[in-house]
Amino acid sequence: MTASARDVLILGLETSCDETAAAVVQRTTTGEGRILSNVIRSQWAAHAPFGGVVPEIAARAHCEVLDVLVSKALDDAGMQLGDVDAIAATAGPGLIGGLIVGLVSAKALAFASGKTMIGVNHLEAHALTVGLSDGLQPPYLLLLVSGGHSQILLVRGIGDYVRLGTTIDDALGEAFDKTAKLLGLAQPGGPAVESAAQAGDTKRFDLPRPLFGRPEPNFSFAGLKTAIRQQARALEPLSDQDVADLCASFQAAVRDTIVDRMQRAIDITIRTHNIPKPPLVIAGGVAANAFLREGLSNLAAKQDLPVCLPPLSLCGDNAAMIAWVGAERLAAGLIDEHATTARPRWPLDEQATPLIGHGRKGAKA
Ligand code: KG4
Ligand code: ZN
Repeated sequence: MTASARDVLILGLETSCDETAAAVVQRTTTGEGRILSNVIRSQWAAHAPFGGVVPEIAARAHCEVLDVLVSKALDDAGMQLGDVDAIAATAGPGLIGGLIVGLVSAKALAFASGKTMIGVNHLEAHALTVGLSDGLQPPYLLLLVSGGHSQILLVRGIGDYVRLGTTIDDALGEAFDKTAKLLGLAQPGGPAVESAAQAGDTKRFDLPRPLFGRPEPNFSFAGLKTAIRQQARALEPLSDQDVADLCASFQAAVRDTIVDRMQRAIDITIRTHNIPKPPLVIAGGVAANAFLREGLSNLAAKQDLPVCLPPLSLCGDNAAMIAWVGAERLAAGLIDEHATTARPRWPLDEQATPLIGHGRKGAKA
């Protein structure tokens, strides 16, 4: 934890995908984070008729509401633009139109107020969220699962990430969303699948556990989705109980796969990276899933490792996490002045080789 001479106040903006968000976060001299305001406007209703996020609609919707949300975030925090030390905005990865809206807004605000502008990596924001919510500092082993990414990362410090595993096809959130779609459930699919699964039997369908037991802790979710489609076709018309059982069996397959892949990552972290007791951390939209959280907690208990699960409000996309990265980087003297242009693709571990099909959707984080 880096100490700073005084408290740091950051206004954060998030516009990388389908949530527009603004927040004010304070970082104390001792490195603790406090969320002074955190406002989010989801665009799901605008995208719903198209069955997925439409980049053009997303960019326009960010344009329409970002100024209002910035005013609200400052009001809720009881301050004015002049009171913050810097303005942080997501610079990538994400949909280019939305990124440009956030960055240009942040640049204009910074220029008008004479403040520093900080371009933030959205994945780093998910990765460092537990510092804000729980004061947890690296090193830790992170399962980052969202609509556009599924990775296992060793977080060694700010800006210091080793990708241990990644998806070779769909992201996990994408698999939840597609499963929901083909079972006729609402979007976003994750919460809908989770809720339907509550009344379901996890053992009724014997679904595949892709890449189970493989030495590299990578993921593959495309086959799982196809298996759900085949089972659903064979049963048509589906009863509510069929849908619940398919959802429950899907979640069980996901949990078993994740636990197996995390087990491999733990072994690698301990043996290759000499970190004897890595805390297990989960982040990203899918981190809100209670079944997965339980699976990770049980694994941590079995392995006698600490576990840190951020609150549900900070799992999905939000601007508090963006502001927090700005604060952490400002306090550590790690501001990259070149990180203020939009980067649709921006991996956390730049050394890691891309795998087939990874980030096919790519834009979401
Ligand atoms: O990180 P996030 O808010 O946005 C980006 O992907 O950028 O993640 C959104 C993803 C969606 O695919 C959504 O279905 C999934 O997170 N999600 C969930 C749950 N809540 C959101 N997946 C499983 N269970 C949930 N409870
Ligand atoms: Zn995200």
